[in-house]
Amino acid sequence: MIVVAGGSGDLGRRVVAALTAAGEPVRVLVRDAARAREVLGPEVEVVAADVRDREAVASAIPGATAVVSAVHGLLGGAGSGPDEVDRQGNGHLAEAARQSGATFVLVSVLGASRTSPLELSRAKYDAEQALTGSRWVVVRAAAFFETWVTVMRSSAARLGRPLVMGVGERPMPFVSVLDVAAVVARAATDSALHGQVLEVAGPVLTMNELAAAVQVHDGRAGRPLHLPRGALRLTGVLAGPVQPAAARMARAALAFDTHDLPHGDPGLRDRLGLAPATTLDEVLAAR
Ligand SMILES: NC(=O)c1ccc[n+]([C@@H]2O[C@H](COP(=O)([O-])OP(=O)(O)OC[C@H]3O[C@@H](n4cnc5c(N)ncnc54)[C@H](OP(=O)(O)O)[C@@H]3O)[C@@H](O)[C@H]2O)c1
Repeated sequence: MIVVAGGSGDLGRRVVAALTAAGEPVRVLVRDAARAREVLGPEVEVVAADVRDREAVASAIPGATAVVSAVHGLLGGAGSGPDEVDRQGNGHLAEAARQSGATFVLVSVLGASRTSPLELSRAKYDAEQALTGSRWVVVRAAAFFETWVTVMRSSAARLGRPLVMGVGERPMPFVSVLDVAAVVARAATDSALHGQVLEVAGPVLTMNELAAAVQVHDGRAGRPLHLPRGALRLTGVLAGPVQPAAARMARAALAFDTHDLPHGDPGLRDRLGLAPATTLDEVLAAR
C-alpha cells in the first residue's frame, strides 16, 4: 500500500491514478477528506490528517511500502506556509516513513537551494537535506504547464487577455503534470531509484511565449497584459500580514521573472524508459 499525501491535488490525483492503474493499493492523506473523496471516487482510501501534525501523520502511515509527499504550502494562510508544510510537514512524513521501513518520495522543485530567492525552494531544499537513511527519492519538478495554463486562462476569462506577472521574457522550464506523476509513481515502486535526485523538466519557454500559445490555441487575439515588477515587489511586502498567500505568490512570480532556473535532466525519460513527454499542444487540447 502506498500513501500519497496531497493525493487530491493536481499532481497527487495523477499519481494516485498511475499507481492504481498499476494495481497498487493507495491511501490518500489530506486535510479535506470530503473533497478528496469527491475528486478520487469511493475506491480510494482517504484519511484526514494535516502534515503539520506529527502524531496524525504517524498514525496514517503504518502498512505503507512507500509514502509520497505531493503537498506544498505556497498558497497556505498564516501558519501553513512553506516553513510549516514543506519543511516541517515533509519532515514528519519522512520520519514516519523511515520508522515504518517505507520508501519516502519527496516532490520538490527544480532549483531548490539554500540560497534560492523563493522561500518554497529553500523550504524544499531543507526537507531534502533532512532526509536520512537510504530509502528515499527526491523528484524535483519544473513548473507544471497545467498550473500556468490555468492561470493564463482564468485571467483571460476575467480581463480579456492573459495576465503575465512581470516582464515575462525570462526562459524557464515547464513540464506536464502527467509526466511528473509518471516519474513519482515510478520512484514509489522502483527500489533501484533509492537515494537519487530526479530532475523532471520539459520545454523551455518564456511566460510571454506560453501566454501567446494559450491565446492562439483558444482562438483569441491580443498580447498579454503585464503586472509590473514594482507591483509584485509591493504586494510581496505589503500583503504579507493580511494575505500571506498573495504575498508569497507575488514574491515567487518576481523570482521567476528575475532569476534563471536550471533546465533539469534531459536524459531522465530515456534513462527511466518512459513514454515521450507530453507536449504543450496536448496540454492545451486537454482542457
Ligand atoms: N504546480 C506546479 O507548478 C509545481 C511545480 C513544481 C513542483 N510542484 C510540487 O508538486 C507538488 C504538488 O503540487 P500541486 O500543484 O499538485 O498542488 P495542489 O494542487 O495545490 O495540491 C496540494 C495537495 O496537498 C494537500 N495539502 C496541502 N496542505 C496540506 C497539509 N497541511 N496537510 C495535508 N495535506 C495538505 C491538499 O489537500 P487539502 O487541501 O485537502 O489538505 C492537496 O491535496 C507540491 O509538492 C509542489 O510543491 C508543483
